[in-house]
Amino acid sequence: MPKLTLKKVTSKNFDAVVKLSKTLTEYQQTCVAPNIASLAQAYVNKKRAWPRAIYLGNKPIGFIMLALWDDDIPKEDNPAYYLWRFMIAKDYQQKGYGSKVLDMIKEKAINDGIKTIYTSCEMTGDQPYKFYIGYGFTDTGLNDGEQILKMYL
Ligand SMILES: CC(C)(COP(=O)(O)OP(=O)(O)OC[C@H]1O[C@@H](n2cnc3c(N)ncnc32)[C@H](O)[C@@H]1OP(=O)(O)O)[C@@H](O)C(=O)NCCC(=O)NCCS
Repeated sequence: MPKLTLKKVTSKNFDAVVKLSKTLTEYQQTCVAPNIASLAQAYVNKKRAWPRAIYLGNKPIGFIMLALWDDDIPKEDNPAYYLWRFMIAKDYQQKGYGSKVLDMIKEKAINDGIKTIYTSCEMTGDQPYKFYIGYGFTDTGLNDGEQILKMYL
């Protein structure tokens, strides 16, 4: 079974990572920004953004981006990471890879001395709310246009 790893996005894998967005269904493309927009956002937030390509063996199958801090997070939950972007290419969804990537992010966060991981998702349609709750995130009850979820480590 090929290994799941997180790798930096470089000039070599940039095109492949950008193309992954097109594998999503039309509806899923409304759930997450295109990877090209996320990479541009990472470029202008160099210190705060942590973008990574998700690889299965030597094949890029997804993209994830953390914010290493967020000023809106309540003091008692800091230090915290905010999961800004997350996608798995359509053909690789529903195979457990998304959960495994969250395991890797959790492990990184624990090693980095992080207390809480935040994320958010919209509530309309078949958004991945249940995926996050099933994984162990809890609903903060807060909504700033998207429902805000968090997980203590
Ligand atoms: C959300 C996403 C990253 C999950 O990745 P994945 O590899 O398909 O997830 P897994 O296979 O690890 O799924 C784990 C569990 O969550 C469930 N799940 C996955 N996506 C779900 C969704 N959109 N809605 C409800 N449940 C979902 C799976 O059925 C599985 O449940 P089970 O353990 O009971 O079988 C992927 O579906 C995706 O890229 N979606 C489109 C983009 C998106 O919405 N990104 C998030 C923006 S907030």
